[in-house]
Amino acid sequence: MVLDYGGVLTKPVSSSAWPEADGIAPESFSAVLKAWLSHSSPEGAPIHRLETGDLSIQEFEVFLDDAEPNVADAQGVESARDRTTVHDPSRRSRSMTEQRVAIVTGAARGIGAGIARRLAQDGLAVAVLDLDESASNLVAEEIVSDGGRAIGIGADVSDEQAVADAVARVVAELGPPTVLINNAGIIRDNLLFKMTTDDWDAVMNVHLRGAFLMTRAVQAHMTQAKWGRIVSLSSTSALGNRGQANYAAAKAGMQGFTKTLAIELGKYGITANAVAPGFIETEMTQATARRVGVSFEDLKESAAKVIAVARTGRPEDIAHAASFFVSEGAGFVSGQVLYVAGGPQG
Ligand SMILES: NC(=O)c1ccc[n+]([C@@H]2O[C@H](COP(=O)([O-])OP(=O)(O)OC[C@H]3O[C@@H](n4cnc5c(N)ncnc54)[C@H](O)[C@@H]3O)[C@@H](O)[C@H]2O)c1
Repeated sequence: MVLDYGGVLTKPVSSSAWPEADGIAPESFSAVLKAWLSHSSPEGAPIHRLETGDLSIQEFEVFLDDAEPNVADAQGVESARDRTTVHDPSRRSRSMTEQRVAIVTGAARGIGAGIARRLAQDGLAVAVLDLDESASNLVAEEIVSDGGRAIGIGADVSDEQAVADAVARVVAELGPPTVLINNAGIIRDNLLFKMTTDDWDAVMNVHLRGAFLMTRAVQAHMTQAKWGRIVSLSSTSALGNRGQANYAAAKAGMQGFTKTLAIELGKYGITANAVAPGFIETEMTQATARRVGVSFEDLKESAAKVIAVARTGRPEDIAHAASFFVSEGAGFVSGQVLYVAGGPQG
């Protein structure tokens, strides 16, 4: 049994806010931990792993949540829980966690940039991930100059190695990510008889393969933290849209993916939801205007005519919905598809 670890524990643990949240005086904290762990971990394994750097603070906190503390018989140390006026796990987990870390894919512009900015305003650290690294860096710099914490990362979400490298960079520079926004997307519109195999594959790769690779990589950190939020971008096109057989299939796929994640990961405190936007003013809809040969203003005007609130959407409209799904209070909302389209859909 490891008994002499007071000097080791206080150093890493002092960076966490949770002794204070639990009402434990800093000077007696290592003794309290020692009492807990000497009972719940006879080999003292977590202490040793913490000491050798094999266990992160987050993993250690998860271990403590799992441990069954029984300090009554422990070396004269009074019970940590007795000294904590109210032991409220949700309060503790919020204050224990210094700052949630989010990855937003396709965040160099448009909806993704809107979501990245909004999550930063909500107090999260944000990895702005996009194929376009220099544009990602600009969004991250803007967040930082507004007082937030962010990094830009250049990565292709459909490239397995690039995804692994990107997530490792987020862990190293911001901390383990527990919020993922699968937003990266492309369109390759054409009527079915003219749609090439490349058009089909490209759209499937970015939306579905990309969301799969990103989610598989990030869920490891979420399950470890026993908390996570996954928000994936679907679209009203999931309901069917002329010229978008590939995109409609991918966006409907995002909904099935989301519901399955909700079922598989729910028991780890992870929610998965989808936002399905209608017409949003971004480079993507500007490209559509160019393709069909009308001005963007004319396209917006004709789109607004069939939208109940009589206007087209903006990235902030989608960011607001994403912010709700990510919020602490939305832990009982999972597997949902929220159409954000200025009127009824779905
Ligand atoms: N704009 C709309 O009206 C609308 C409607 C419904 C759904 N959506 C969805 O919202 C999301 C964002 O759309 P947007 O309008 O902001 O598009 P956008 O074209 O303005 O931005 C998409 C971003 O994704 C990035 N990206 C593309 N492929 C990538 C890859 N392989 N890896 C990493 N990044 C990649 C692009 O570089 C770009 O910065 C997409 O999933 C889109 O399908 C948009």
